[in-house]
Amino acid sequence: MDFSGSHILSIDQFERSDVEKLFSLAESLEPYSNKEKITKVLDGAILGNMFFEPSTRTRISFGASFNLLGGSVREITEAGSSSLAKGESLADTAQVLSGYSDIIVLRHPDEGSVRKFSESSRVPVINGGDGSNEHPSQALLDLYTIKKELSQNSKTVDGLKIALVGDLKFGRAVHSLCKILSLYDNVKIKLISPEELRLPEKDTQLLQSKNVTLEETENLEEGIKDVDIIYVTRVQEERFKNKDDAKKYKGLLSLNKEIYTANCEPNTVIMHPLPRDSRKHANELDSDLYENPNLAIFRQADNGISIRMALFALVLGVEDQVEKTSRAVNWHVTRDH
Ligand code: CP
Repeated sequence: MDFSGSHILSIDQFERSDVEKLFSLAESLEPYSNKEKITKVLDGAILGNMFFEPSTRTRISFGASFNLLGGSVREITEAGSSSLAKGESLADTAQVLSGYSDIIVLRHPDEGSVRKFSESSRVPVINGGDGSNEHPSQALLDLYTIKKELSQNSKTVDGLKIALVGDLKFGRAVHSLCKILSLYDNVKIKLISPEELRLPEKDTQLLQSKNVTLEETENLEEGIKDVDIIYVTRVQEERFKNKDDAKKYKGLLSLNKEIYTANCEPNTVIMHPLPRDSRKHANELDSDLYENPNLAIFRQADNGISIRMALFALVLGVEDQVEKTSRAVNWHVTRDH
């Protein structure tokens, strides 16, 4: 794939070599994401960071990544504060915003909306999540995390055994993750969800066509035995037509210290795209696992910076120029965890 000038809309665009290229660049950018060095390679560039749905990680890490490359960020943080609320079309919004920005990240509640927006945009658009469809940058940072965590135990993504837990029907992070895992060899996925929240058939068909081994169960204890990674997800309440229906599924699949200790191999890594729903009735990933060194959720969120920096550098074609304007930082912050 030619990253330069491309929209990044779906993991469908990626081959394994593209993923590896991005990861190699992300690794080389870690001195910047770790705040040891700064660069001005995107000095003067403007990111339009357009979020028409709530976000903490994706919005802030895309913005911070652009700042760390020396660029500036302009934001919309809710549909109600934009002229979409006055009836302006997505196409007109794209025409206008792409006149003000060099690249745009868009999150929107409707499936396919980011692709539609990109068709009227004059600059590259990155999908920050479109409804329950896809969240490609999340899948990239998830796989980057999986690789790093597995390497601690001398394992690789080829041969990975992973359990995906929770709302596999509406979870866009899971949909993109399944696609990216299908690029690797001998992957085994255990799908753990209530019957009504099973992974959509189009996704299971894709995985089967790529020789991914699938097992499905509604039983958490059974599903998390003999896996390298447990990837827990939240019930996506915002996607249910009737919010009361979502309540039925909250708290059904809840991973805690007792269940982990009784069923998991030592070193089984725990991931979650976050946010986790920590309210008592949901609590899909209990805080009693906080001291477990295999809990990778905050390392996973941190990895979003170098992955998103790498995406910007490749799409804007500056990946070979980062060092030219690089220098050591003047400040020092200790991050213990
Ligand atoms: N993982 C993720 O997309 O988090 P936010 O909704 O906070 O961006």
